[in-house]
Amino acid sequence: MPLNAATAAARLSSAPMMDWTDRHCRYLHRLLSRRALLYTEMVTAPALVRGGALHLLDHSPEEHPVALQLGGSDPKELAQAARLGAEAGYDEINLNCGCPSDRVQSGTFGAVLMRAPGLVAECCAAMIDAQPREVTVKCRIGVDDQDPEEVLPDFLSQIRAAGVRRVIIHARKAWLQGLSPKENRDVPPLDHDLVRRMKAHFPDLHISVNGGIASLDEAEAMLASGLDGVMVGRAAYHRPADILCAADRRIFGAPGPDATPEAAVHAMLPYIEAHLSAGGRLISVTRHMLGLFAGRPGARGWRRMLSEGAVRPGAGPALVEAALSQVVRAAA
Ligand SMILES: Cc1cc2nc3c(=O)[nH]c(=O)nc-3n(C[C@H](O)[C@H](O)[C@H](O)COP(=O)(O)O)c2cc1C
Repeated sequence: MPLNAATAAARLSSAPMMDWTDRHCRYLHRLLSRRALLYTEMVTAPALVRGGALHLLDHSPEEHPVALQLGGSDPKELAQAARLGAEAGYDEINLNCGCPSDRVQSGTFGAVLMRAPGLVAECCAAMIDAQPREVTVKCRIGVDDQDPEEVLPDFLSQIRAAGVRRVIIHARKAWLQGLSPKENRDVPPLDHDLVRRMKAHFPDLHISVNGGIASLDEAEAMLASGLDGVMVGRAAYHRPADILCAADRRIFGAPGPDATPEAAVHAMLPYIEAHLSAGGRLISVTRHMLGLFAGRPGARGWRRMLSEGAVRPGAGPALVEAALSQVVRAAA
C-alpha cells in the first residue's frame, strides 16, 4: 500500500513545541529539509471550536507535509477541531497525550490521558470519522506510578482498535506532581528500548520514537534498530542545520546536494520582507533563526547581531544580511 505523504515524511519529524514551532519556525525548517514532517505547536480543541480562534490554523503552503497537533479530551469537540484542521489543509491530525503542564492537566488533556485509554480511543475514533486525514497520537510511556510495561501496550492496543495506525512515543514517563513541564522533559529516565519492544509487539503500527535524540547519527541508529520514525524536538530547534540539512539524503535517500544554512537565510529574506509588510515584527521570525549556525564559525556573532538588532525600530532584512556577511567572513 503506498504511504500517504505524512506517513512517508514521518521517518524524521520535528516535534510540536509550544511557542517554538510556530509558522515562522516551520517555514525555516522546511527550507532545511524538503522531506521531514513538521508539527505545529499544540492548538487546543476548545480554542478552535468554542473560541473560534481559526487564526491558530494559519500556515504557509510551503510548510507541507505539516501536521496539526490538537489538545483536548472531548470526542465531539476534537472531531470538530480535526475537521477544521483538515479543511485548513493540514496533512495529519495529531492528538497530544504527552504534555504535562498544569494548565493542560486542569483541562483533562495531555499526559493525564495516559490514564484514560478508553477515552483516548473514543476521541481518536471520532476524529477519524469526522475527516479524511490520518489521525495520530503522541504519548508518553506512562505517568506517575503507572507501570509502562503494562499500560503502554494496553494504551496502544486500544487506540489501534479505534483505527490509529501511527504513534509517536516520547520514551519517558510524565510525573504529574512536583515537576515542571521543563523538568518533565529531562528528569524521568528515557527508555528507548521499551519503544523498540512496542514495535516488536505491534508490527503493524507505525511507531516513531521521541526523546533525547540529538544527532542524525542517533536518528539513523534508531531507524536501523527497526523503528519506523524518529521525532526530534529541542535539537532540531536549537541546531536546526545539524538535524535537518542532511536529512533528505541520509534519512530519506534523496539525491544531494544537502541544504545549507546560508541558502536558507537568503530564502528567508523575501519571507521576512512579506512578514514586515503585513505589519509583523522582525524578531518574531529571527528568534527561530538564532541557532542556524550553531557550532560553526561566526555563530556567536550571528546570534548576537540578530538578538540585539532585531528589536530595534526599523530593523529589517538588511540586519539579517549583515549578520550573514559576518558569518561568511568568520568562515573564510
Ligand atoms: C518549548 C517546548 C514546548 C513543547 N510543547 C509541546 C507541545 O505543544 N506538544 C507536545 O506534544 N510536546 C511538546 N513538547 C515536547 C516535545 O514535543 C518533545 O516531546 C520533547 O521535547 C522531547 O523531545 P526532545 O528530547 O527531542 O526535545 C515541548 C517541548 C519543548 C522544549
